[in-house]
Amino acid sequence: MPAATQKAYVCASDRVPEGGRLVVDIGDATIGIFRFEGNLYAYHNICAHQGGPVCQGTLIPRVTEKIDAGGESQGFDFDRSSLHIVCPWHGFEYDIKTGEHPGRRAARLIRVPVEENHDGIYVTL
Ligand code: FES
Repeated sequence: MPAATQKAYVCASDRVPEGGRLVVDIGDATIGIFRFEGNLYAYHNICAHQGGPVCQGTLIPRVTEKIDAGGESQGFDFDRSSLHIVCPWHGFEYDIKTGEHPGRRAARLIRVPVEENHDGIYVTL
């Protein structure tokens, strides 16, 4: 029989600003909540690589390489429409919107349902 889920109040909305995050303990779980382009995303603080505290890593735009018509690299750039979190243990990156590692789709974070009401942010565990 699957475990029952429960909705839990986390915090006021302004605790997770645009482009930011909040990492909180809720019961036995540690959850990272992120806001990007106005939407909330939440994941368990467990890296798909070796279980590191991924939600506490650096947030950076996706890095892309500019290739010219001749196939030569023209350096790197940031794709600001995509925000990544970098695990502090070994550097695995995950897209905040999908929870997926961009180079290994099978490596993904464990998503937590998150919603926002007039009084703040809730997650369902
Ligand atoms: S545990 Fe996260 S990159 Fe290794």
